[in-house]
Amino acid sequence: RVVAVIMVGGPTKGTRFRPLSLNISKPLFPLAGQAMVLHPISACKRIPNLVQIYLIGFYEEREFALFVSSISNELRVPVRYLKEDKPHGSAGGLYSFRDLIMEENPTHIFLLNCDVCCSFPLPEMLEAHRRYGGIGTILVIKVSPESASQFGELVADPVTHELLHYTEKPETFVSDRINCGVYVFTPGIFTAIQGVTSQRKERATLRRVTSFEALQPANRSLPTDFVKLDQDILSPLAGKKQFYVYETRDFWEQIKTPGMSLRCSGLYLGQFRFTSPHLLASGDGSKKATISGDVYIHPSAKVHPTAKIGPNVSISANARIGAGARLVSCIILDDVEIQENAVIIHAIVGWKCLIGRWSRVQASGDYSAKLGVTILGESVAVEDEVVVTNCIVLPHKTLNLSVQEEIIL
Ligand code: GDD
Repeated sequence: RVVAVIMVGGPTKGTRFRPLSLNISKPLFPLAGQAMVLHPISACKRIPNLVQIYLIGFYEEREFALFVSSISNELRVPVRYLKEDKPHGSAGGLYSFRDLIMEENPTHIFLLNCDVCCSFPLPEMLEAHRRYGGIGTILVIKVSPESASQFGELVADPVTHELLHYTEKPETFVSDRINCGVYVFTPGIFTAIQGVTSQRKERATLRRVTSFEALQPANRSLPTDFVKLDQDILSPLAGKKQFYVYETRDFWEQIKTPGMSLRCSGLYLGQFRFTSPHLLASGDGSKKATISGDVYIHPSAKVHPTAKIGPNVSISANARIGAGARLVSCIILDDVEIQENAVIIHAIVGWKCLIGRWSRVQASGDYSAKLGVTILGESVAVEDEVVVTNCIVLPHKTLNLSVQEEIIL
C-alpha cells in the first residue's frame, strides 16, 4: 500500500507569485489548462497500489474544498486536504499528520513539492527504492553549475546511489546534482523526523536550565516542531546508508515566479503530446483558428477562425479571442476578451482582462528575469493600440498609454 503527500505550502509563501496569487492560491494556478497541483496528482495515479493522496498546507480549507472533491471523483482516488494550524516546514508538516497517514498502513509514502514541474517518474523511483533499501530515495537532476546554488546540492555514490553529502542552497559550489523535491520514503522517515524534534527539545530544555543566554534573540531556537526535510534530515543523515538517489534525465523546473509558470505550462503542454494528446488543440477543420505547436483551448473559449495561436498557448474558460489576433507563448485566464488584431507574446493575461484592438501585450521571454514576462492582474484593461512591454500590472488598472519596463501598482 502506497500513499502520496503533496506539500502545497501556504499564503505567506506565495508573495513571489503576485499579482496572480491575489486571486487564487498558487497550487491552483492553471498550467497547460490544469491546476499546478493536478500535474503531480495525475502522476500519482500511475503508482501501483496507491490508496490515498493528501495535500498538506496552511491555506484555508475552503480554498481547496471544491478542487479536492471534484478531483477525487474524477480520478477515482481519494484526495484529501489537510490543514496545518501554522507552518511546520516540509518535514514537520508531514510529521504533524503521521497518525492519520499511518492509519492507511502504508509500506511507502511519496512526498512531492507542489511547486516543481517534471515528468514525475514515480513508479520508476519506487522500483529503484525497493532495490536500494534505506528509508528514502530522492529524485535528482543534473543542472548547470551556475544555477545549482538555488537548490539543495548533493553528492551520491555512482555505484550504490547512496546519498553521501547534502547541502541546502550552499554559498560555494558543491555539486551540479540537485534535489528535485520529490521523494519516496518508508514509514521510517517518521522516526528520523522524531529524532530531530526530540533532540531539539532536549537542547532547548538544557539551554533554559543552564543559561540566561537563551533569552538573547540570537540564541532563540526554532520551534521544536518546525523541521525542514532538506537541512534538518537529509544533511545530517547523508552518508549513513539511509538515503539514496534516483536521477532523472527528463525535464525539471521549479515554479516560484509567474514567469516560470509560463515556461512550465509549455513543458506540460509538450508532455501532453505523449500522455494526453486529446487535450491539445488540433486546428483541423475549416472553421478553426490556425494552430502552431502545443496549444490548449478550454472547450468553452471562443476563438475566431482567423486568429493564429501558438506555440505554448493555454486559453482558459470563456475567453474570447477576436479576428486576426496573434497569441504566442502565453496563458490567457478565464473570461478574458482579446479584441481584433491584438498581439500577445510572452505574457500572462489575468482573469476578465480586456485587450483592445491592435494593441500589444509582450515581453522579452526571459523567464528568469523579473520583467521577462508581462503579467496583467485581474480585470486590467489595455485600450486600443496601446503597447505594454515587460510590465507587471496590478489588478483593475486601465492602460491608455504605452508602457515598458514598469511595475504598475
Ligand atoms: N504544508 C507545508 N508546510 N508545506 C510547506 C511548508 C510548511 O510549513 N514549508 C514549505 N512547504 C512546501 C512548499 O510549498 C514547497 O512545495 C515545498 O514544501 C518546499 O518548500 P521550501 O521548504 O520552502 O523549500 P524550497 O522550495 O526553497 O526548496 C526545496 O525544494 C527544492 C526543489 O524544488 C529544497 O528541498 C531544495 O533542496 C530543492 O532543490
